[in-house]
Amino acid sequence: MAKSTITFVCTECGGESLRWAGQCPHCQAWNTLQEFQVRKAAVGKAGPHAKRGAGSKPLALVDISSEDAPRRALAWDELNRVLGGGIVPGSLVLVGGEPGVGKSTLLMHAAAQVAQRGSRVLYVSGEESAQQIRMRAQRLGALEAGIFVLAENDLDLICDAISAEPPALVIIDSIQTVTDAGFEGSAGSVTQVRESAARLMRLAKEIGVPIFLVGHVTKDGSIAGPRVLEHIVDTVLYLEGDRRQELRILRAMKNRFGSAEEIGVFAMGEAGLEEVPDPSAALLGSSATSSPGTAIVAALEGTRPLLVEIQSLVNKTENSIVRHMILAVLEKRLSYKFGTSDIFVSVAGGIRVTEPAADLGLALSIVSNHNNGPLPDGLVVIGELGLTGEVRRVGQLERRLQEAARHGLTRALIPAGAKAGRHSGLEIVEVRTLAEAASAAFSTPMRSGALIRGAGVSVS
Ligand code: TYD
Ligand code: MG
Repeated sequence: MAKSTITFVCTECGGESLRWAGQCPHCQAWNTLQEFQVRKAAVGKAGPHAKRGAGSKPLALVDISSEDAPRRALAWDELNRVLGGGIVPGSLVLVGGEPGVGKSTLLMHAAAQVAQRGSRVLYVSGEESAQQIRMRAQRLGALEAGIFVLAENDLDLICDAISAEPPALVIIDSIQTVTDAGFEGSAGSVTQVRESAARLMRLAKEIGVPIFLVGHVTKDGSIAGPRVLEHIVDTVLYLEGDRRQELRILRAMKNRFGSAEEIGVFAMGEAGLEEVPDPSAALLGSSATSSPGTAIVAALEGTRPLLVEIQSLVNKTENSIVRHMILAVLEKRLSYKFGTSDIFVSVAGGIRVTEPAADLGLALSIVSNHNNGPLPDGLVVIGELGLTGEVRRVGQLERRLQEAARHGLTRALIPAGAKAGRHSGLEIVEVRTLAEAASAAFSTPMRSGALIRGAGVSVS
């Protein structure tokens, strides 16, 4: 087979190209392709199965133990859940996120929780001085005797320190400040970031020590973001959240040792982060009930139902180019005209909801604001919208309804035909179309005959 060498990597998406171009062919970002130094001799595959010897002999499937080492559980279940049940020995975990979102804070809390159980943690920082790290730890109540700090950028010295006395956990803050002297390029270049991570991966596997890497998401194309590492590491977690707000979501994007859909919820306060075991309560707590434009939906993140409040604002404007599937469906099926409107949508608490099950709630929140009529109190809206305005069924309806009932909601709009909710204690209203949902949701009749016209249109 001809040897193909990839020589350019996008710092934004990690996509690989054979030739340099001004624009990344994968994610269309500009000026993000960076030369990647490819080594002639393969260094051995880094990966969970990299061990030579024992690993190269076939084993009977039934003789393989299901887990080779116990996970180290942390005090926070929100963290354990995202990790798939705790920290796996020898795993390489990437914690990505925008600068200032709270990655260092989160990992210092994790370090403290490992140290509190009598184990050693090595916190390597290339970004802050040892004094600064101590000050943060103090503020977080994380000043534990078992935490050791190494302010260092040189990968050789970092690896030596880890090997000399293997700790129970290593944190590298951040991978973009580390340089391997054996490679060209400055810290943060694709070559440095990738080769350093690959070497740390091999070390983690060799001595069975878990290593967490901080990776800043950057807008600046000269520094490689965490995406260029996603395929190298075992687990990819992203810390999300609006810096001006409290809530932070730690979201698993990839996990060789667990589900890649889990989230952990935290709140940033004066003394650092706290876990939020009941995020629905936190998200609904801030909700302004019965104002036009808000709708409560029950989204599902991994295994957990999450009640969130969607807020919409419809403004008349002369030059709008908003195009979104939900708006198109509203226009077509309920005869709304958004051609001259700006529509802003947000989720209370500043979190990101990606689930299609929130479609119907989003549509109703827009209708609510457009008509200046609030949705009824205590209503939860669940359903995906199809292009014809049909309300599609969603997974795990029962769990969503239970969560809604647990938080005192009283009535649920759900997709028709779903066999759920009989025992939730909620009043269940099944709807087949967006038009039916709008009729059922708004106590006052809609202003136009649009709903009636739209009602019969649902086709499959
Ligand atoms: P940090 O963990 O340094 O972010 P990152 O490592 O992702 O760049 O935290 C950044 C923000 O968190 C900082 O702007 C201030 C805020 N913060 C608090 O609100 N309370 C605290 O106790 C700490 C340590 C930070
Ligand atoms: Mg930091």
